[in-house]
Parts: sequence; C-alpha cells; structure tokens
Amino acid sequence: MINQRIRHSGLRQKIITAEQAVELFQPGMTVGMSGFTRAGDSKALPKALAQKSQQQPLGLNLLTGASLGNESDGLMAQAGAIARRSPFQVDPVLRQKINAGDVLFSDVHLSQPAEQLRTQGAYPIDIAVIEAVAITEAGAIIPSTSVGNSASFVAQAKQVIIELNIAMPEALEGLHDIYLPQVRPHRQPIPIINTEDRIGQSAIPVDPARIAGIVITDQLDCPSAVLPADADTDAIAQHVVAFLEKEVALGRLGPRLLPLQVGIGSIANSVSQGLSQSTFRDLTMYSEVLQDSALNLLKSGHLRSASASSVTLSASKMQEFFDELDFYRQRVVLRPQEISNHPELVRRLGVIAINAALEFDIYGNVNSTHVNGSHMMNGIGGSGDFARNAHLSIFVTKSLAKGGALSRVVPMVSHVDHCEHDVDVLVTECGLADLRGLAPRERARKVIEHCVHPNFQAELNDYFQRASAKGGHTPHLLDEAFSWHLRAEQTGSMQLCVGAVA
Ligand code: COA
Repeated sequence: MINQRIRHSGLRQKIITAEQAVELFQPGMTVGMSGFTRAGDSKALPKALAQKSQQQPLGLNLLTGASLGNESDGLMAQAGAIARRSPFQVDPVLRQKINAGDVLFSDVHLSQPAEQLRTQGAYPIDIAVIEAVAITEAGAIIPSTSVGNSASFVAQAKQVIIELNIAMPEALEGLHDIYLPQVRPHRQPIPIINTEDRIGQSAIPVDPARIAGIVITDQLDCPSAVLPADADTDAIAQHVVAFLEKEVALGRLGPRLLPLQVGIGSIANSVSQGLSQSTFRDLTMYSEVLQDSALNLLKSGHLRSASASSVTLSASKMQEFFDELDFYRQRVVLRPQEISNHPELVRRLGVIAINAALEFDIYGNVNSTHVNGSHMMNGIGGSGDFARNAHLSIFVTKSLAKGGALSRVVPMVSHVDHCEHDVDVLVTECGLADLRGLAPRERARKVIEHCVHPNFQAELNDYFQRASAKGGHTPHLLDEAFSWHLRAEQTGSMQLCVGAVA
C-alpha cells in the first residue's frame, strides 16, 4: 500500500522515522508546516520536535497555514520548541505563552505570508513539513485536507519532509488546485472568474532531491470543536438570511446572491447552517475553510460548489466526506490560502463576507482578536482579507459574553482589527444594523437600537448622547471610552450596579 502511494520509486528509499527526521532540525531554524484550521497538519513531527525540545529547546520560528490540531501547537510551545509563531493559532497553551510574552506571535492576514516569503525573504524556510496522501511519479506532493501555505513552503525550503498519512484516503487526489502567482513585476491577473475555476495543478511540485525524508503516519485530523447552534445563533442566522432576501427583493443581488465567505467558529458555522432554512438554491462559496455547515448545504442543494483552503469537520462529517468523495470532488476545490483569500479575487467575485467578532463599537469598528485590548485570542485569520474587499462585509456576534457579564457592543473597541470603513453590516441576536452610507452619528443610533442587549442599551445610549453633546464627527468621551473594559478588568463584569442608569 505504501509503495502504491509513493509512486516515484526512487523516493521509497527515503522512508524514515519521525525521530530520525527531527535530527535534521537545529535551534532557531525557520520551519514551514502544513496545516490550516486544524486540517491537513503534520501529525508526527510536532510530537517528535516537542520531545527533542525537552532535552534542548529548539526555539523554532514556526510558520503554518493557520491553526494546527492535535494540541501540536501547545505541546511544542510547552516544550520550548517554538520561539516565534505566525500567522494564526487557536491553542490554549500557545495562547497563554503568547500572552505571557514567551512566544512572539506575528498575527497577519492569511493571504499575505506567501507573498512575504516570495518577495521579502525575511525568514527563508529551512525545512518544510508537509502532510500528503500520496507522492506522484514525478515526486509531487498530493496534500490531504488542506493546502494552506504548503506550496509556498515547498517552493522555498532547503529541505522537505513529507508526512505520508495512510489514514487519509488517496482519493483526496483531484480536490486540490495548486497555483502560485508569478513574481512581480509583470504579474498576470489570477485567472479565476468563477468560484469553481481550476487554474493550477493537482499536486505540489518539488525536486525529489530536496525531499529529505518521508515519515509514515496514520492519524486523522482532530475533529472540529464548533458548538451546536442555539437560540441566539439561530436568531443571528435569521437576521442575516432576512437581510439577504431583502437585498434580492430590492434588486441589489440576484437570486443566487454572490459567492459566500463564512468565517471560523461556532457562530459563523451556525449562520452558514441557517441558510438551509432559506429559499436560496444553487449558491456558491468562496471561503478559506469549509465547516460542517458547508457540507450540509452542498448536500441539500442550497450550495452548488465551494472553494476554500481546507475542510475542518466534525468526526462524523469527515467520515461522510471521505465516504462520498466522488460527490464532493465535483463540488469542492481546495486552493493555496494566498488564492482562497486573495484580495484581487474577493473583489472580482464580489464575495459576501460573514465573519465573527469578539466585540464591536457603536461606530462599527470590530475587534476580532484581543480580549480587553491586550490578550490575544486566535488571530485575525482571513477575516481582513475578505472584509476589506468584499461586496458586503458582515460581522456577527452574540450581544453578550461570559454569561451576560460582558457586552460585546461597547463605546470604543479595545483593539481594532476591522475599522469602520471595512464594515457594512453588524448583527447580533437582537437585530441587524445596516451601516452602508451612514455617517458616524447615524451608525451609532442604528447599532444601539438594533444590536445592543437590553441590559446595556440605556448606558450605551447615555454615553452616545453625552458624547454627541460635546461634539465631533465621531463623538467620544475619551475618559470614559474604555470604562466598560476597565470595569470588566476590575470586577469581571461590565454591568453597572442595578439602577445606576435611569
Ligand atoms: N471579551 C472577552 N471574551 C470574549 C468576548 C469578549 N468581548 N467575546 C467572546 N469572548 C470569549 C467567549 O466567552 C469564548 O470563550 P470560552 O471559549 O472561554 O467560552 C470565546 O471568546 C469565543 O467566543 P465566541 O465568540 O462565542 O466563539 P466563536 O467560536 O464564534 O469565535 C472569534 C469568535 C472572534 C474568537 C473567532 O471567530 C475568531 O477567532 N475570529 C478571528 C479570525 C477569523 O475571523 N477568521 C475567519 C476568516 S475565514
């Protein structure tokens, strides 16, 4: 079976163990690993690197597509294997190390690392570690459940280690479309006109001489951890669907809308699932990750096709995906994240972007990343790639967090990932604020009326009224703008004492 998957006969001699592979790593090296939203990540090397770091911390500069699964980031961070990390993570242990200042995290738009590697050469890749389901006769790498930055890492790396995962079906071949933009100047437009278009190759080309070893693994991706929909996420989804239906009724969108992008996390997954309650059919998706909801929509016919950089699924959906690959191969294409998130394509296709926020403010600025302005949650991911260039940029969130102690609509966000100019529509379970074409004072009135939880509405309105009386285009009271966050820091709650605001 392994010979069948390593179709280049010369490469069969390069099978090594993970323990042998880690001997190639030296402290301070820059390593590019496959893996995007916990899909298609290498399974054996992270553990072996963590093991090796127990003796001597490797302090690697670790680049990936996005987040790794299997607690790999945490294991490596705990053991001192990671000194620097980019561009995205979701691991609680790594998060703690980042917030303690022990690991230096560079949080960047997910479309950008490939370009930076190609043109800025800040960190040439020493070793690329790439998960594959097979290696072609020419030695090219057929990725597994994600593409991420793998093609760019392989193009750059001095040495390539392939993790050949025999638990993943070889039939994933044909799902991927590997295309890297030309070097500037004189770069040609990226020739994607429809979300389904395939413009590249089905495998990542590599000179077999640079393949330093092949490690055999047999472990599936760790299942996604999205929470099921609840009354609030259902309400958010209903607001989004009603808004899109109204856009169609007004003739601003056609009945098949425009390609959808849906962000990561439980809320975004539920919103996407909410489309199954709509009358829309034959939609398309141009996103960076496909969650369970996207597969459900493909099955129900609400979605005709989906383009992304990874599939991140629950265990049962992953099994269904593998069992029905012939169905999905016709409808799903996995691209390098540089292409799935490319501003040129997001703008050309007119993507409707739906991303989740940690908090937003009365003027429409969105914080996706920093709790109380300082503590990193996950990273900006691809939300900015889509939000700035989308036909419609929608942000969703529940109006409350931490059991109602925190309002997710605040006077001024404590960190800005998406400025007011990149945000068209804000949605909570309370309602939807369409901010297009509005001036800041109009935006604030809409946000306070439609999105804020009743427990915080009077206080937020009071803040806005007093700020407006003081004047300004975007009125604020600077000595109070962060008072809600300060209160949360000091007491764990943004709530004023009951009755404090009449
Ligand atoms: N202050 C403090 N904590 C907050 C908070 C706030 N304003 N808002 C949410 N939280 C906490 C929640 O309590 C929860 O913590 P818990 O896991 O300990 O319960 C956690 O943050 C996640 O909350 P929630 O918003 O309910 O979950 P989510 O799964 O929908 O994720 C983001 C929301 C913003 C964290 C997530 O979408 C993200 O990382 N976005 C940035 C990247 C991105 O958008 N990528 C998409 C491009 S395709």
